[in-house]
Amino acid sequence: MRHLVMDWGESFDVGDPVIDHEHRMLLDLFRSLAEPEAPTDTATLRARLDELVALACQHFDHEDALMRRLHYPGIREHQEEHDALLEQLNKYIALLDEAPDPPPVSGIVEFVGLWVLDHIDREDRKLSAFLAGTIGLAVPA
Ligand SMILES: [Fe+2]
Ligand SMILES: [Fe+2]
Repeated sequence: MRHLVMDWGESFDVGDPVIDHEHRMLLDLFRSLAEPEAPTDTATLRARLDELVALACQHFDHEDALMRRLHYPGIREHQEEHDALLEQLNKYIALLDEAPDPPPVSGIVEFVGLWVLDHIDREDRKLSAFLAGTIGLAVPA
């Protein structure tokens, strides 16, 4: 996974400058968690997850606004993924507040990595294709 993330280039850009910038910020935050010398103490992890939730909320608001502006037919499924991702991050934060020793570092890093890569590569890429006019999605009944 780390290899994939480090190779992440412009092919992941969705074509909206604000959203692309935020994706790179999300990636940077993930890197700060995943790099081999990253701190693994509970307080630092907790702070990084707080940053991640704040950035993700801001980013999701921008994607929501874009999807509404485009009348994007996949908006409901996309928003459900955002909500599920935030819910899981908040579960990890609650878990860290219980001060487990040792904290579940690898589980958190893996989840965040999959979250960043999978969601952007799948759902955000669909949004990107719609934005570019290269696909049309069926309007849900
Ligand atoms: Fe995104
Ligand atoms: Fe998204």
